[in-house]
Order: sequence, then structure tokens, then C-alpha cells
Amino acid sequence: MELRNKVALVTGGSGDIGGAVARRLGAAGAHVVVTYVGAEEAAAVTAGDITGAGGSASIQQLDQRDPEAVEASIQAVADAHGRLDVLVNNAAWNIGIPFPDLDALTPEIWDRVLETNLRAPFLLARASAKLLKADGGGHIVNISSAGGISPGSSSIAYSSSKAGLNHLTRCLAVAMAPEVAVNCVAPGLVENTRMANRLPEAVAAGARQQAVLGRVGQLEDIAEQVLTFVTSASITGQIMVVDGGMPGAMR
Ligand SMILES: NC(=O)c1ccc[n+]([C@@H]2O[C@H](COP(=O)([O-])OP(=O)(O)OC[C@H]3O[C@@H](n4cnc5c(N)ncnc54)[C@H](OP(=O)(O)O)[C@@H]3O)[C@@H](O)[C@H]2O)c1
Repeated sequence: MELRNKVALVTGGSGDIGGAVARRLGAAGAHVVVTYVGAEEAAAVTAGDITGAGGSASIQQLDQRDPEAVEASIQAVADAHGRLDVLVNNAAWNIGIPFPDLDALTPEIWDRVLETNLRAPFLLARASAKLLKADGGGHIVNISSAGGISPGSSSIAYSSSKAGLNHLTRCLAVAMAPEVAVNCVAPGLVENTRMANRLPEAVAAGARQQAVLGRVGQLEDIAEQVLTFVTSASITGQIMVVDGGMPGAMR
């Protein structure tokens, strides 16, 4: 119960991975603030699972493309709890656009992807900095993607946003030390997620075949890695790929 009396905010806790991360942090004793943009019911299910298991959770609406909403969200956490120990930048938006179809990747789509997946994690870190630093042991965990390391996944914009998030992790690790550790989980295909189910079956099958461990990432693998980061005092600036081991992506 390493996180008892700590407060964690998980963006996109209405989604598959965010929900799993929120449940894991809740089971470890944290009060978890679960954010959603539209799926209030799904966020309530995540929070209900946490409280039903004896933990503590609340939900909050947040469109993280809106800088003022980001500030208001963190202020609401400060008002309700007086502290924030863990920020998990999990929420993201994507749309499938084949890489060679450059014309389909419009400025509007580019901006929506980059605002949601890269600018918002920065804005959330900035808004949370004072609270995260207050006790000297704050944590940020960003959820990027293996597509941020190798060119691939749903679109050039998504892949670029996640590459940016990987580097933002390192920059914030320097900027927010020594009080705050900043790390990143970069999943490949994660089984049983809607995002993965939207991939063409050949892409998903290819990932499963290439994984040297004979399995790709599972929801609980991502959640455990987040917990490992937020319960360590000696790791910062790291990107942990969780993909079952893709030979082409091992560096
Ligand atoms: N699933 C995979 O195989 C996979 C692989 C690699 C990386 N990832 C990464 O893992 C993370 C979670 O993915 P997932 O599979 O759990 O996706 P998901 O189920 O589609 O969840 C996405 C979450 O982001 C939220 N969101 C979207 N736009 C937002 C906005 N403008 N403001 C605030 N929240 C917003 C959604 O809220 P609503 O529910 O309210 O719409 C939802 O909670 C993402 O960062 C994704 O890039 C996933």
C-alpha cells in the first residue's frame, strides 16, 4: 500500500489503459481522480470499480485541448484534496491515416493530435508543478507509444506526437528535478483495447507474430509499469517500451 494518502490524477481514465492504470493506483491506496472528455459513464465505472474494491476515487470532466480547462482541473484537485502526488498523462486522440497519404493529414487533424497528445501533457505538468513539488516526491508518468520510437502506428501526426512526448519526458525530468520524477511508458499493441481493435487485423497479427516473448502488452502490464515508476525514488527521464519485444525496435 505504497500510495496510501496520496492523490493521483489519471487523464483518460474512462479509456482502456487509463482505466487499468487508475484501478491499479487505486488498489495501491491512492485517491484517484479519473478524467474523461465525453465518456462520463465509463469514467464512473472506473471510479466505481476502485471504490467497490475499497479504494477512493472521483471523476472530473476535462478537455485537455483547452489550456484554461487544464488549469481549472488542477485547481479543482487542489481545492478538493490539497495535494497531488502523481500525474499520469494517459489521454490521447488518434485517427487512422496511412503514412503515404500526406494530403489526408490536414492541418486541423495535425493540430488536434498534437494539442491533445503533446501540448496537453506539458500544460498539465506545468499546472501541476507546484503541487507535485510540495512534498518533494512527486511523479509524472506519460503514456506514449512504440510509434513514438519507430515510424509507425495510426498516423504521422500520432507517431510524431508520441516522439515529442518521449522527449518531453526527458526535458521535464531535468526541469522538475529533484522534487519530481518524470518517466514514460511506451506501449506497442495492447490487447483488449479499442484503440488496438481499430487497427487493421493484419497489423495486429503482425505485432503478435513478431513479439519475441510470444505476447504483446496486456493492460495489466502497462498498469504495473506505471506503479513501478511511481513507487521508485531513483528513476527519472526513462522511456519503458512494453510491447512483447519487437526485434526491429530494440535499441
Ligand atoms: N491501445 C493501444 O494499443 C495503445 C498502444 C500504444 C499507445 N497507447 C496509448 O495509451 C493511451 C491510452 O490509450 P487507450 O487504448 O486506453 O485509448 P482509449 O480507450 O481510446 O482512451 C483514450 C482516452 O483519452 C481521452 N481523451 C481523448 N481526447 C481527449 C481530450 N481532448 N481531452 C481529454 N481526454 C481526452 C478519452 O476520453 P473519453 O473516453 O471521455 O472520450 C479516453 O479516456 C494513449 O495515450 C494511447 O496513445 C495505446
